[in-house]
Amino acid sequence: MTSDDHVLHGEAFSVVLEADGAGAPLWRYFGPRLPDGVLPGAGLRQTRPIPSFSLDEDMPLSVFPLFGLGGFSTPALLAHRGGRDFAHGFTACVVEWVEAGRRLRIQMEDDVAGLAVAVDLAGVGSGAALEIRTTLINHGTSELDVSWLAAAVLPLPSSVERVRSYSGRHNREFAPFEDRLSPASWVRENRRGLTSHDAFPGAVVACEDATAQAGLVYSAQLAWSGNHAQRIDRLEDGRRCWQLGEWLAPGEVRLTPGERLSSPEVLAVCSSDGFDGAAQAMHAAVRERMTWPSGAMAPRPVHLNTWEAVYFDHKLEDLKTLADLAAEAGVERFVLDDGWFHRRHDDRAGLGDWTPDKDKYPDGLGPLAEHVVGLRMAFGLWVEPEMINPDSDLYRAHPDWCLHLDGRPRSTARHQLVLDLARDEVVDHLFGQIGALLDALPITYLKWDHNRDLAPAGHEGRAAYRLQIEGAWRLMDRLRASWPHVEIEACAGGGGRIDAGIIRRTHRFWTSDCIDAVSRMEIQHGFLQFMPPEIMGAHIGASPSHSTERSQALDFRAAVALPGHLGLEFDLRTMSAAEREELAAWIALYKRLRGRLHTGKVWRGEAGDGVAWQAHGDEDALILFAYRLAPPVDKYAPRLRLPMLREAGPMRVRRIAQPASHRRPRSSAPAFAAMAQEGLVMDGAWLALDGLPLPEMATEACDIFELIRERT
Ligand code: DGJ
Repeated sequence: MTSDDHVLHGEAFSVVLEADGAGAPLWRYFGPRLPDGVLPGAGLRQTRPIPSFSLDEDMPLSVFPLFGLGGFSTPALLAHRGGRDFAHGFTACVVEWVEAGRRLRIQMEDDVAGLAVAVDLAGVGSGAALEIRTTLINHGTSELDVSWLAAAVLPLPSSVERVRSYSGRHNREFAPFEDRLSPASWVRENRRGLTSHDAFPGAVVACEDATAQAGLVYSAQLAWSGNHAQRIDRLEDGRRCWQLGEWLAPGEVRLTPGERLSSPEVLAVCSSDGFDGAAQAMHAAVRERMTWPSGAMAPRPVHLNTWEAVYFDHKLEDLKTLADLAAEAGVERFVLDDGWFHRRHDDRAGLGDWTPDKDKYPDGLGPLAEHVVGLRMAFGLWVEPEMINPDSDLYRAHPDWCLHLDGRPRSTARHQLVLDLARDEVVDHLFGQIGALLDALPITYLKWDHNRDLAPAGHEGRAAYRLQIEGAWRLMDRLRASWPHVEIEACAGGGGRIDAGIIRRTHRFWTSDCIDAVSRMEIQHGFLQFMPPEIMGAHIGASPSHSTERSQALDFRAAVALPGHLGLEFDLRTMSAAEREELAAWIALYKRLRGRLHTGKVWRGEAGDGVAWQAHGDEDALILFAYRLAPPVDKYAPRLRLPMLREAGPMRVRRIAQPASHRRPRSSAPAFAAMAQEGLVMDGAWLALDGLPLPEMATEACDIFELIRERT
């Protein structure tokens, strides 16, 4: 290392920056971990003759490319002062270690435009991921109008050729699609005011030959619950540049003299182990961001969520019966969903009035909560604090408390408007209302919903998207500080607010309102690319499914939900005693496995001929789910290859007995009988290269295996 280079090593990645005098350091490398001491050997400009028709000064990609003075790549900053100071160039730069070898701060000044930029880089998740954030400060004497501030600028090698990102809608989150990278820019933007169902704020960029478990892959996600933009542009040297940041509405950010704008963080990873390697690094980074009530995650309790069981039809006796049946089946947390508060008989009224409805709960929620707690279950409550129905006492008292623009329609969605959280009195009011519930009742869990996009997000005539998110986060932080034993679930019509920003103050995501197990396979696959399984709300729903009206057997619904944070979401009163027994056995299996399902790595793959698989744990001990999603074409089942076990040595493979179901017996073979008993010892290399034989399976069914490394 020379004094001009700055090297930050993670567990699986390295960053090499090259000092550039007063300018921003140049991006020399972000890629798989370099051996200690390995450096480029020559300065970047020393290796690049100036091409024809170019400025005489070479301007390679830096950590913060600027506009107007000769850098022609996409700038990290777009800002001006009433049309002036549109061009920027740094006049001083200081790089220092905030924490040796782990946290690097780059501070840059533009004396002419009167602004400063700080870029912070850190290894997070025990070095699995790189975290970057950027801060802009207005050192000038007039307002600085900002329309773009990249949270991170990442270099990508020329070898990456495709980008996988996610689209979707309510009831169908995380629909993956791939674009080929070309000289045209690749752009995804979200202007919905919350994270969104249709544009997850992250992506995966891969080499042509990258697979689920092999090949070079980069992934990044923006830790932000609001508007966002990400783009990938080709550079003149063949590399690509990936920028992620907050999408800013016109006039939304005008920094007064001395004011600063801090970007959300970006989590970035790179892996030579394909999409799963990148996912595992993301899981480590997200796990590190979370704050659990007792300092560490407790085993994820089995939920019962009342929504699809009773919807708005709350009757105390019915709910008590539901709680009895839930407790009998082994449920550990009872979450009372929408429908409990003042005049909430459907979705047209009540939001904003957070007191129990007197007709449904004449004695308040106490009797139900006490009943639940008496059954040794925790009590959770649904709220949607940011929302207000025009038909509510709160709106009648404070019609000006919602986001609005004078002279423009107040557009409702699901008959509701959005409270303006840029107003301190609104945040204080909500803190008081929710706090009163937390004080009065034994609530240890809030399901925090948000059921619409923002339009218009107007506060005193200006765009207030980011103020809204900051207000919501502030409210959550205040509640958590005062009631630290309360966990929060982030929900927005299912998975409309899944991001690494809100996870600093929440503990679970409601992944989707679609609980159909077949649909859930792909939704959960996408979720797990960025988030770990223990925060993936996964429920056993009704059959037929309320969202798709498809029917699936209980064992399949259970096996699809089992790897996540398990819950139930249907009316248990509709089940026979035998079905409830089967359900209880699945819950018992979840409790036996959850310690291993929720702490290690996750791999996902396709065995071929309609079989998908998912493995949790590590190379010493794995829980493996093999799902048959379509009827087989071949006479014999495919072998399921487990590439991560190549070096593992002998593994004992056991087939986990599933709770008895209605399925007819299938033809078996001796190896599967052995697997069901003492287990079959197979070498990891064999499992990696040839694969695990699979039994004959019904369609929409799952087989579960346990693979434990043999002690030698
Ligand atoms: C949307 C959520 O995703 C559902 O789970 C449920 O809580 C409803 N809102 C209640 O209105």
